Order: sequence, then structure tokens, then C-alpha cells
Amino acid sequence: MLELSGINQYYGGSHILNEVNLKVSDGEMVCLLGRNGVGKTTLMRSVMGMVAIKTGKLLFAGKNITQTTTEQRARAGIGFVPQGREIFPLLTVEENLKLALAGRRDGLRNVPAHIYTLFPVLLDMRHRRGGDLSGGQQQQLAIGRALVLDPKILLLDEPTEGIQPNIVVEIGQVLRRLNQELGLAVLLVEQKLPFARQVADRFVIMERGQIQATDEMSALDDTLIQRYLTV
Ligand SMILES: Nc1ncnc2c1ncn2[C@@H]1O[C@H](COP(=O)(O)OP(=O)(O)O)[C@@H](O)[C@H]1O
Ligand SMILES: [Mg+2]
Repeated sequence: MLELSGINQYYGGSHILNEVNLKVSDGEMVCLLGRNGVGKTTLMRSVMGMVAIKTGKLLFAGKNITQTTTEQRARAGIGFVPQGREIFPLLTVEENLKLALAGRRDGLRNVPAHIYTLFPVLLDMRHRRGGDLSGGQQQQLAIGRALVLDPKILLLDEPTEGIQPNIVVEIGQVLRRLNQELGLAVLLVEQKLPFARQVADRFVIMERGQIQATDEMSALDDTLIQRYLTV
């Protein structure tokens, strides 16, 4: 489904991503782990085309999309929930969701009903401003907004950061449901290991811009955790 090969990325003189290879298969849920500053967000932004890929190749659904724009990638089926959510605080929940409709090819004018079914709170609060929602509700809105485009894969960058535990559980359930019912593939950056274990099939660990380990989630043991994840 999504395949990165030999990706390199720089900010000025610093080498941020170093020969990154990463593959997410159809219907797979993969969790990208690593300490702060190792390049996880840069990797997500590279997949979305928000930072240009210096060298390397990005394949999606068998097509080379290395040179395509962010909008083209979104339309092709890569959904993105950025770190920090980035919803529009002064627009209502419904307006936030409707803005995303502009990216659909089919000209749909209304927010697909299944988004409100997945997140009933968004229906209840659809006329409230985004900025009036709790952090967890804003995260649900950010996920809902990404789902408006019916993605085939959903990228989420630390979706549980700063969110109350009950909503973390709900988000985990929604992701599993989307995966099981619609076959949505997921690439998730996550710091909370219990959540990562609940949601993901496989982990990928990064350190200083390089992939260090990947395996089934059940193989994430204390040695790996101490070496690559504890602060
Ligand atoms: N826009 C930027 N300009 C310069 N350096 C950046 C920029 N964004 C991130 N960095 C640096 O790149 C490295 C990787 O950052 P990031 O991808 O955000 O890591 P992570 O998401 O794993 O915490 C860090 O050292 C960070 O300081
Ligand atoms: Mg980050």
C-alpha cells in the first residue's frame, strides 16, 4: 500500500531522515515509535509532501508519488491527522468538516453520515466552534476531518498527546473498527505504549533518523523499550 525506500531528508545542514525504508501493507496497522526529536514527524510530513523528499522513493498503491503535491496525495487516499491537531478554532465543527469536502472528487456537499456515527460527539457539537471543544474532542474532529476524504491509509501523529484517558480509549476503538470494517490501513506515531499495543499489528522504531527495528507488536520487549524508547 505505502512504501518508502531510501528516503533522506535534511533541515539546512542536519540530516534528519537517513535511508529510511518503511512499508505498510494493505489493511495493516503500524506504529512508529521513537524518542522525541528522532524524525517521526518529519517522516509523516515527507509522506504527505509537506517537506520535499531529497532522495529516495515513495510508492502508494503501486504508483510513484515522490514528486506529487500534498493535495494530490490526499486525493489519492492518504489521510493525515497532524501532531497538535490543527483544526480551525473559530470555525464550527461542521465547517471544519465541510472544508475538507473541497478535496473530494465527487463534489459531495455534506459531511458523510458515518463520520458522525463514528464520533457522535461531533454531531452533538456540530454548531460549536472548534476552539470550544476539549482537547480530546478536537482530536476526534481532526480524525473526522481526515476521514471526509475516504482515505485508504490514515497517518496519525501522536493522536493521544494530552488527551483524557476515556477519549484515548474511544479513539483506539474507532481506529480498530475502521481497520476491521473498511480495511483502512494505519500508520501511527505514538508515545503511549499501551495504546500502541492495543491498536497496532506491528511496530517500527526510529532513532536519529534511522529505522532500527521492526517486528510484530507482541515482540516489543523491555530490551527494545529501554534501548530506544525510555528517556
Ligand atoms: N522546521 C524545522 N527546521 C529545522 N529543524 C527541524 C524542523 N522541524 C524539526 N526539526 C528538527 O528535526 C529533528 C526531528 O524532528 P521531528 O521530526 O519533529 O521529530 P519527532 O517527531 O520524532 O519528535 C529534531 O532535531 C528537530 O529539532
Ligand atoms: Mg513529532
